[in-house]
Amino acid sequence: MKLLCVQSQEHPELPLAELKAVMECENIDAKINCVTEGLVILENISRDKIYEYYEILTKRLGYTHEIHELIFKTNVDDLPKDSQAVDWSDYIDETFAVRVKRIHSEINTVGYERKLGTLILDNCDNIKVNLTKPETLIRVVAFKNELYVAIERFKLNKKHFVESKPHKRPFFYPGSMNPKLARCMVNLSRIKPGELLLDPFCGTGGILIEAGLIGCKVVGSDIYWKMKNGTAINLDYYGITDYRTFHLDVRELKMYKKVSSVVTDPPYGISTSTGDVDGEEIFKEFFHAIYDNMKDDAYLCMASPHYVDLKPMVDEVGFVIVEQYGIKMHRSLTRIISVIRKK
Ligand SMILES: C[S@@+](CC[C@H](N)C(=O)[O-])C[C@H]1O[C@@H](n2cnc3c(N)ncnc32)[C@H](O)[C@@H]1O
Repeated sequence: MKLLCVQSQEHPELPLAELKAVMECENIDAKINCVTEGLVILENISRDKIYEYYEILTKRLGYTHEIHELIFKTNVDDLPKDSQAVDWSDYIDETFAVRVKRIHSEINTVGYERKLGTLILDNCDNIKVNLTKPETLIRVVAFKNELYVAIERFKLNKKHFVESKPHKRPFFYPGSMNPKLARCMVNLSRIKPGELLLDPFCGTGGILIEAGLIGCKVVGSDIYWKMKNGTAINLDYYGITDYRTFHLDVRELKMYKKVSSVVTDPPYGISTSTGDVDGEEIFKEFFHAIYDNMKDDAYLCMASPHYVDLKPMVDEVGFVIVEQYGIKMHRSLTRIISVIRKK
């Protein structure tokens, strides 16, 4: 069986990297077929696992907009023939709607919604179209002249990423990370629900909120009381209960327990204070402080500005950089997202 993922195109690599990381840590066994940027098909999924995988991916992913169970793949010419071969009563009980989404395609979306809707109605008794509140959504993704016809079983919580923007939280401070990127970084760290994740520069708690929402235990620390307390206020607001926060300089970090992941956005530039530490020095000190607090197979996912060369620092401590992605912020700043682990 197959799952069809419609991904964000706001970054050329991160959505796919996030998907691969979640598949790896959740042991999702499927072949990845990347049709084009924004459209990925997960193939060869066993029948008894597909809904379990579907649910996990729906709950975790930040840069994926929609996930559907693929019914069949066709093209504009073969749609009538191929749709007639489907027993639609297996998919639709009472009401349905067809919605078409185009990716590098010129087809007439409304025309194809009507066309497939009519073909389904002709083929199946006792069902009706309901465009406002359909029980079943048939999603067609058109790529060039190819049509991927699928059914939505679980919805991603897209609202969350809009409603939990930093300025909408009870505690706000400039320099907070956008929730989608925070979720993606949590996922890149290969953490599993129930495991312990640490952010030692927690600020307003943006990363910890995302980790808490996918079921991780979280620990946050910050050099400023105000931030430590603000993080707790924000975590409470999102109903996250399994957390601890500490008022602590990262250089004094001594965890009560080794962590499974570290995900963090260390201070740099003008908008965040580095306490009394100078520019790049904070990165070096951070790597030294964090090493012994991580389990041997733990991953670290962090953001840094392009002008800080992490390589010699991680080499010195005994870490290795596994993946890196650049996000252009403006003309003179690219943010680098690095996935790092112990050698
Ligand atoms: C870029 S902000 C983190 C933002 C956070 N990801 C969020 O979403 O709000 C960096 C944080 O590191 C804290 N910080 C600076 N120097 C520190 C140090 N030496 N030890 C611990 N925290 C420090 C700052 O107070 C700031 O809150």
